[in-house]
Amino acid sequence: MEHLLSIEAMYPQNMVKYVDHAVTLKTRRGKHEEFPLQGQVWALLFSKSSTRTRVSFEVGIRELGGSPLFLSSNDIQLGRGEPIRDTARVLGRMVHGAIIRTFAQSDVEEFAEYSGIPTINALTDDEHPCQILADLLTIREKLGSWEDRKIAFVGDGYSNMARSWCWAAKHLGFSLTIGSPDACQPPADFLGRLDASNVTFTSNPAEAVAGAEVINTDVWLSMGQEGQADKEARFKSYQVNSALLEDAAPKHIVLHCLPAYRGKEISEDVLEEHADTIFQQAENRLHMQKGIMARMAKHRVL
Ligand code: CP
Ligand code: NVA
Repeated sequence: MEHLLSIEAMYPQNMVKYVDHAVTLKTRRGKHEEFPLQGQVWALLFSKSSTRTRVSFEVGIRELGGSPLFLSSNDIQLGRGEPIRDTARVLGRMVHGAIIRTFAQSDVEEFAEYSGIPTINALTDDEHPCQILADLLTIREKLGSWEDRKIAFVGDGYSNMARSWCWAAKHLGFSLTIGSPDACQPPADFLGRLDASNVTFTSNPAEAVAGAEVINTDVWLSMGQEGQADKEARFKSYQVNSALLEDAAPKHIVLHCLPAYRGKEISEDVLEEHADTIFQQAENRLHMQKGIMARMAKHRVL
């Protein structure tokens, strides 16, 4: 049984295989000869909002021959307190795979343990693995490879995106600098597990971006943190704008997983200047996730 629960738990060789496979699927979109999800129903169990993740998974499941079943946690008994392990044991007897977007990483892990079906993390407070894999595909397409590149992440170092990037750097060996206020660095237990000399942290955003070929950012307040004005105020000097990018590598790209808040984490002009890359990044979710599900369906013993 294969799951995708975190970048932390991934084998580096599988990350590369996923990117290779997504390249093939992208080239062959509309001309597929195999439908590995034929006759299968895959559930999307979401406790947070989504545009890209929901649409890319629903379309991807259909393109692979399967049927998606969207379940908002507000509409099912989970929202009234039914335990995750019971929900998992019910869905595991009825559907063939599950894609989960929620708060606690432990909920995705518990679901995988109890459901007995392939389980994919579609974002938790700790990680956003599908996004990082799609972003690696975008880097491959735009720059040829991530090897020997300097990558920067500017914004909330505590966020799921920053933390998944840290694990990607540890596994794949590229240089990563997180530029984030001191109070928003990843938690100590995470740093203890990470222990990667190629990942550095600074509270100086200009230092993070200096010489970087890939500059990533994300919202300052992740889902569930809305209204935390005190936290948001810490990021004022962390906007990715043309002044900050002055010392980036001459041929840099800017990535944003979206949704973006123009005038906050990214300026309007930088977003529009890099829109081609940023929306390619969004599209790549579809190709990447099709590869992930196809692999899981193939490996599944029915
Ligand atoms: N990037 C991303 O996961 O977008 P959604 O929240 O719209 O799914
Ligand atoms: N860090 C953001 C990512 C959104 C795709 C959040 O969790 O809200």
